[in-house]
Amino acid sequence: MIGRWTFHGHAIVSEDDRIAGADGLTPDSLRNEADWRRFQSALDTAAVTILGRLGHEVNPNPKRRRRLVMSRSVAGLERHDDGWWWNPAGMSIGKALAEVAPEGGVAAIPGGREVFDFFLETGFDRFDLARVAGVRIAGGIPIFSSVSEGRSAAGSLAAHGLRPAPPEVLDAAAGVSVTRWQRTG
Ligand SMILES: NC(=O)c1ccc[n+]([C@@H]2O[C@H](COP(=O)([O-])OP(=O)(O)OC[C@H]3O[C@@H](n4cnc5c(N)ncnc54)[C@H](OP(=O)(O)O)[C@@H]3O)[C@@H](O)[C@H]2O)c1
Repeated sequence: MIGRWTFHGHAIVSEDDRIAGADGLTPDSLRNEADWRRFQSALDTAAVTILGRLGHEVNPNPKRRRRLVMSRSVAGLERHDDGWWWNPAGMSIGKALAEVAPEGGVAAIPGGREVFDFFLETGFDRFDLARVAGVRIAGGIPIFSSVSEGRSAAGSLAAHGLRPAPPEVLDAAAGVSVTRWQRTG
């Protein structure tokens, strides 16, 4: 939590904690209708969505939700036709959100990897981690950089002060469940 904003991460990963394939795209094996509905309804109630430039480019924004797009191509904060573009090296998250979502509320964070790394250090208040059983993506993009150093996604969330609730099955036939990690104390 910073000021009036809380940070909620959202990801769907393979068994080996990958969010995308080696080609940088989300494979069909990580797409699931029940998880998509859960994710979309979380975005509907968020004050702002914060995502990386690549994810922004491949995921259109038909509902015109308020987006804060992280990119090193801007100096600080800029308003573009497709949303607000932000470089944390040039402006703090608190200042950026005061401009973009002055009413406060939930900042929903769907990644990708470097964005998740940034907010792991800033402090997630909650993280909904969905997983597809039986899917492995060799060479894919990990949810956190630390996965490449041998630490699981669960290990990273736990090391940063979050604790898991029991997993909830979203789609038994497809082997998809979601675990809500919440900051304690
Ligand atoms: N399965 C899932 O839950 C899930 C979650 C997220 C994404 N995805 C998929 O993964 C793919 C993209 O993920 P990705 O990790 O490759 O890329 P990404 O996070 O979407 O975008 C990376 C870009 O974001 C900007 N960025 C990230 N961290 C920054 C920082 N600290 N400061 C300034 N700019 C920063 C940089 O943009 P510039 O190059 O402009 O500087 C960087 O090149 C997409 O296919 C997406 O759909 C899947």
